[in-house]
Order: sequence, then structure tokens, then C-alpha cells
Amino acid sequence: MSTVVFAVGARPNFVKMAPVIEAVGRTGLFRQLVVHTGQHYDERMSAEIIDDLGFPKPDRFLGIGSGSHGEQTGFTLIAFERVLLEERPDLVVVSGDVNATLACSLAASKLGVPVAHVESGLRSRDWSMPEEQNRVLTDRLSELLFTHSPDANENLAAEGIAAEKVHYVGNTMIDTLRRLERQARARRIWASLGAEEQDYALVTLHRPSNVDHEERLRAIVDALAELGRHTRVLFPVHPRTRARLAAADELGRLERAGVACLEPLGYLDFLSLESAAGMIVTDSGGLQEEAAALGVPCYTLRPNTERPITIVQGTNTLIGDDPAAIASLRPTGERSAPCAIPLWDGRAAERVADVIAQSFGSVGAIATSA
Ligand code: UD1
Repeated sequence: MSTVVFAVGARPNFVKMAPVIEAVGRTGLFRQLVVHTGQHYDERMSAEIIDDLGFPKPDRFLGIGSGSHGEQTGFTLIAFERVLLEERPDLVVVSGDVNATLACSLAASKLGVPVAHVESGLRSRDWSMPEEQNRVLTDRLSELLFTHSPDANENLAAEGIAAEKVHYVGNTMIDTLRRLERQARARRIWASLGAEEQDYALVTLHRPSNVDHEERLRAIVDALAELGRHTRVLFPVHPRTRARLAAADELGRLERAGVACLEPLGYLDFLSLESAAGMIVTDSGGLQEEAAALGVPCYTLRPNTERPITIVQGTNTLIGDDPAAIASLRPTGERSAPCAIPLWDGRAAERVADVIAQSFGSVGAIATSA
């Protein structure tokens, strides 16, 4: 029986990979191993989300933790290579664009183990983003590239990636959302936070470009405090952002302005807040997509996005680089029609599993050519 290793490391990986592991498992064709690199390790950033998703208990935990990008990527490369040498898998499946994604793909590729990349082909064309570097390099190393929007296929074609490696399957993160949406909505977490349905702003900000520079962080705090004067603001604070706010002595100012600075939430509690929000303000990639699937207006504090389909066929608006734009936003309570993006239908992981099963074909192996 061929062995498939699923490599996950950071919060969004669990959400994208859970339905893929389940769907590949249903084929009954493979021995499956789940490796958690430990890039995210807090109860709230990892364990709670894993529980909410019913994610399988990882077979290996590499305990990589935090560090500089080079350290995190380098330590993962070394530790994951050891797992590959012991387990000798026939395929490694990675997802998204975090450091664990690149490190595990590189370790596999160097040992001649084929890589399948879920969420291929997204491009912001902003090389200063660590995620853009991770995406481009992971795609170059992959034999099976699973995409969720036509622009992703175009990007890969423009980079000379052979069309037969690319499979347009849809969005596995939305599979998870559809599976758990009803359960999440029933939690009504917003009610316990003093917010009215469709009348509050849900805010998440964690990108280095927004939170790592003190002057910019202060401008964001100014804008959120201003927003908080007329709108209930719920702000689950990522550990990176909390550390920067504490260092700049700005947490207190947000709280005094009535902004609810929450701990990171589990998947179901967070989806509960997303689904009933009047608007979302974010710099996350995943939230742009989840907002589109839920029909909630989303304002993205970035000059670009690797997910243009969320603008063209979703609910996303880029508000650019100036945090002051946040202050004048208002929750609309408007809901757009059900998600219009093709193949974001809750069945993407089944299509991934079909392709993986077919790719092993009669020879029982995927040829590597990268
Ligand atoms: C990573 C991803 C980003 C993704 C995000 C989702 C990369 C390059 N970035 O960013 O694309 O959107 O995850 O959350 O991989 N920390 C904790 N506990 C944890 C994890 C992190 O306290 O469980 C703190 C550490 O101080 C760490 C900081 O948060 O230095 C940032 O974590 P890190 O894994 O470096 O990247 P993220 O900002 O989370």
C-alpha cells in the first residue's frame, strides 16, 4: 500500500487539509500519516482548532515553534527530512503558503518524493511577503498542483508549469466552512460579547507589513479607536499582533476606546463571529475567501491580494495601505446572494482525492520531474 504524508504546521493548514485527509482516507487506497511541524503551538492557535475540526491526531509532532523565517524553515526542513527517511512515503501533501509548506515541500523534493500542493497558483506579485516566496517556490517543487480559481491556472501557465500537473478542484477551506457552518452559527458568540447581529465589525490583523512597524501600528490603533466610536469592534488578537501592541504600549488605548481585544478563537467560535458580522476588516488571505463564501462585506488592509476572485466574484474590497481608511467604514448588514465562485461548493477535497487516486494509476507511483 502506498503511503501519503500530510504535512501541516500553522492555523490555516488545519482548515484546508482536514477535508483532504478525510477524502483521501475514504478511497481506502493509502496508508496515511499526518505530520504537524509545530509552527503554531499555542492551545488557541493549534489544539483548539484541531479539536473543532475533528482533525486526526498527528502521527508525528516536530515541535518547531517560533523563530526567524530562516530558522523556522530550516529547522522544519531538517526535522521533516528525518521523518521522510524513516517513513519513505510515496507522496507528500502540503497546503497554503506558510513556512511549513515550503520547508516540507523542499525536504520531499530533495529526496525525490513527489509533492501535491493544495491552493496552488495564487500570486500577489509582492515578493516582500514571506507567503509569496513560499507559494512560488512550493509550486515549482510540486508534481500535483490543486487550484481554486481560474486566475491561479493562468499564473501557473505564465510561469511555464505544465498544464497536465494543474488540477482546478475548488476550495477545500470552503469545504470545511460548509461542513461546520450550521454548528458555528448556532453558537451566537457575538451575543455574549455585547454585539448585535450584522451590526458589528470583526477585525483581524497580523501581517508583518501591518503590525511589525511601530508607526504603522499606531496609525492602525488610531483608526480602530475611531471606528470604535460608532461601531462595536470585536478584535481577536493574533499573538504576533498582541506582542507588538504590548511593546508599543497601545493595547490599553484600544480597550479604552471600546475595542474588544479578544484572545485568538477556536474555529467554531471564530466562524460564528464571521457569519453574523456586519463587516470584516482584515489582512488575512483566508478571511477574504470565507467572507466571500458567507456573503459578508470584507475590507482588506493591503494594497494587493493574491485572491482577486474574492473581489471580482466575492465581497472583498482592497482599502489599500492607509489605515485611516478603516475609520470611515460602516457595517452594512447587507448579504450578497450565495457564493458565486465556481467549485467553492463544499466538494473540492473529493476532487483532490480523485486526482491523487488516479495519479497513482497502474504503476502505483507518481513520476517526479520538477
Ligand atoms: C503564519 C503564516 C501566515 C498565516 C498565519 C496564520 C508564515 C510565513 N506565515 O504567520 O501566512 O497567515 O500563520 O496565523 O508562515 N506565536 C505564538 N503562538 C503560536 C504561534 C505563534 O505565540 O502558536 C507567536 C510567536 O511569537 C511568533 C509569532 O506569533 O513569533 C508569529 O508566528 P509565526 O508562526 O512566525 O507566523 P504568523 O505570524 O502566525
